[in-house]
Amino acid sequence: MTILKNDLLLRTLKGERVERPPVWMMRQAGRYLPQYMVLREKYGFFERCQTPELACEITIQPVDIIGVDAAILFSDILVVPQAMGLEVQLIESKGPMLPDPIKTINDISRVRVPDVDETLSYVFDAIRLIKQELNGRVPLIGFAGAPWTLLCYMVQGKGSKTFDEAKIFCYTQPATAHKLLQMITDTTIAYLKKQIAAGADTVQVFDSWGGLLSPADFEKFSLRYIRQIVAALKDLAPVIVFAKGAWHSLNAIAETGASALGIDWCITPAMAREFSGPGITLQGNFDPAKLLAPIPVIQKEVKEMLTAFGGQKHIANLGHGILPNVPVDHARAFVDTVKEYKSLHPVVEI
Ligand code: CP3
Repeated sequence: MTILKNDLLLRTLKGERVERPPVWMMRQAGRYLPQYMVLREKYGFFERCQTPELACEITIQPVDIIGVDAAILFSDILVVPQAMGLEVQLIESKGPMLPDPIKTINDISRVRVPDVDETLSYVFDAIRLIKQELNGRVPLIGFAGAPWTLLCYMVQGKGSKTFDEAKIFCYTQPATAHKLLQMITDTTIAYLKKQIAAGADTVQVFDSWGGLLSPADFEKFSLRYIRQIVAALKDLAPVIVFAKGAWHSLNAIAETGASALGIDWCITPAMAREFSGPGITLQGNFDPAKLLAPIPVIQKEVKEMLTAFGGQKHIANLGHGILPNVPVDHARAFVDTVKEYKSLHPVVEI
């Protein structure tokens, strides 16, 4: 096993004191990088995901170009619905499209809990290749979508601001919804276990649409399943749960045994700390749109964010994915400001 040269992220996930917060950005491998756009011209989206050499190259781009403290696997949460038997397309400038979404119990027969070694082996091959190419420079983050967020796409069939059809499906056909959520959960557990076995140092569960549910429905249709995932994985690798907008449930998510909680910019670091308790690491929470502000504004606001989190048990990140129109030097300013930050609570040498 290669020893990590930069293990700031892993130490922070363990709750250890660190010299400064680690930094990475959600969707850091993507369209704001000209080097990504070159590969995007040549290959289709799922072709990029399914070709380990391409996934590897794209994963490492932000490590080389921006200098982040962690790599995140280049893939997508929607490879899981694909592996379960649904057709998923990515339409240029429109986003994901599932031509035959799940609407009733009859549609459930079209999905299965797949053998992940058969259907998603390209992901595990990519992880092995990335680990080899990274050669211990930074840790590698694996990931999957949370069952609720995947159900949103599997039922709605496309992106939405409200995912009404997915919610109506849950509220009118709860037994079918729970059957589907359990199938996604079982697939996800097997999938993330294999990502860790292939070399992922930590895994993040993305519940991008968790905040669309009331606190009670979040517990019923999302957290119940995230809890199973964290329980199955937490002894194998640290788990980061990012349930965007579900600030009301930070305490309950912390109790799953996750090592870190992702938060967005709609909650202050002080409130998030109060809700989630003193022990857990928090990740976030810079508004991605603010990366379009002038660099001096970014530097000032990043420092304010770092101070508000207090310098420990914090992974500096955005509160959601980076936008495609962010200039590369603005992304770099975000990362560099974190790297230059001197913690308010420096490690005391004894
Ligand atoms: O973070 C990373 O750099 C790793 C790669 C990654 C992608 N998608 C690549 C991608 C990760 C972690 C994801 C997660 C993902 N995918 C989520 C959860 C995080 C979030 O942003 O809420 C969701 C909801 C999806 C589904 C998805 N995939 C959408 C809605 C879209 C289209 C919207 C968009 O940003 O264009 C995608 C496509 C996608 N996934 C792109 C990338 C780089 C853009 C593809 C392209 O046009 O090149």
